Amino acid sequence: MNKVTRPDTNEIIRMLSITCPKDIDALYKQAYEVKKQFVGTTVYFRGIVELSNICAKNCYYCGIRRDNPHVERFKLTEEEVIKSALWAYEQHYGSVVLQSGERSDEEFVCFIENTVKALKERTDGRLGITLSLGEQTEETYRRWYTAGAHRYLLRIETSSPELYKKLHPADHDWQARWDCIRTLKKLGYQTGTGVMIGLPYQTLEDLAKDVQFFYDEDIDMIGMGPFIPHADTPLANAIPDYDGDKQLELALKMIAVCRILLQDINIASTTALQALKPDGRELGLLAGANIIMPNITDPQYRANYQLYNGKPCLDENASLCRNCLERRISSIGETIGYDQWGDSPHFTNPVN
Ligand code: 5AD
Ligand code: SF4
Ligand code: FES
Repeated sequence: MNKVTRPDTNEIIRMLSITCPKDIDALYKQAYEVKKQFVGTTVYFRGIVELSNICAKNCYYCGIRRDNPHVERFKLTEEEVIKSALWAYEQHYGSVVLQSGERSDEEFVCFIENTVKALKERTDGRLGITLSLGEQTEETYRRWYTAGAHRYLLRIETSSPELYKKLHPADHDWQARWDCIRTLKKLGYQTGTGVMIGLPYQTLEDLAKDVQFFYDEDIDMIGMGPFIPHADTPLANAIPDYDGDKQLELALKMIAVCRILLQDINIASTTALQALKPDGRELGLLAGANIIMPNITDPQYRANYQLYNGKPCLDENASLCRNCLERRISSIGETIGYDQWGDSPHFTNPVN
């Protein structure tokens, strides 16, 4: 049950249309006040392991899509995943995210099930485990939940089925994705979703509907970031006058709008923000986000997990990213919530 009222389309469009720097600043400040009031200024870390870039899908925007031949495909062993996740646990990150390209074969389903179980066992159930492994059957989601995963991230990418069609091949189905989000919620996962911002053909009205989608679906956690073209994809040149600064600004405005209108949810300050500007993730926090997902993937694999061009930290290891992010976060006067899962108040107090 939502305690806030359903955001109004025109109100969202008005906020997203603000161009005067002084007014944009006021929007971020307003969002920051709402953030302070509802979720505070503690940033929660989710260490992310990119465990494989093998993907059965062919999304037109993504650098690791099936038909991109320029990517060397990899998959980590169970021990490699566990090693990275335990490192994060020892660093007092409350939780980890296991992410990969989409696969639904039994070998993969089993691999994840076993890895999640092992991680739970080896941390006495204390490490929070989020999965970001795409569309799966209800049975698979149930197995992974039973194994110990309690959060799942599945971006809807856009709430518009028409726009979704333009960004994906014919066999990628918006409705199926939506059904997955509902199934995840039904099974008890704390469910996160999100969209890309500044997509080709996307209008401000589409973005307004995205915010309403988050509201209607009673979403606990949002991870969204700017669309960034990848040279080896069909959408490489879909925005001829692509302007990174404008993309960043629109993405930050979306974060602010979601914080102001949805209040007590978790919002990630995503790596794609940092791809457009070195301090992009700090700007995300200042615009209302409260979650950061430090990359804990071994550097030997990072170059082959580029969903978009310009992804930062390709040569850095997990410790460097940790130190760097600690510095960045304290530079804006915020603290890190070590040893905590950092569930959103929206999830823990759904009927307030
Ligand atoms: N630009 C920005 N985000 C992208 N993603 C995939 N490709 C791109 C891109 N070119 C995002 C999608 C996906 C998430 C894991 O990464 O939203 O859900
Ligand atoms: Fe695969 Fe996800 Fe990339 Fe689509 S966005 S091609 S599902 S990794
Ligand atoms: Fe990875 Fe700065 S966040 S080096």
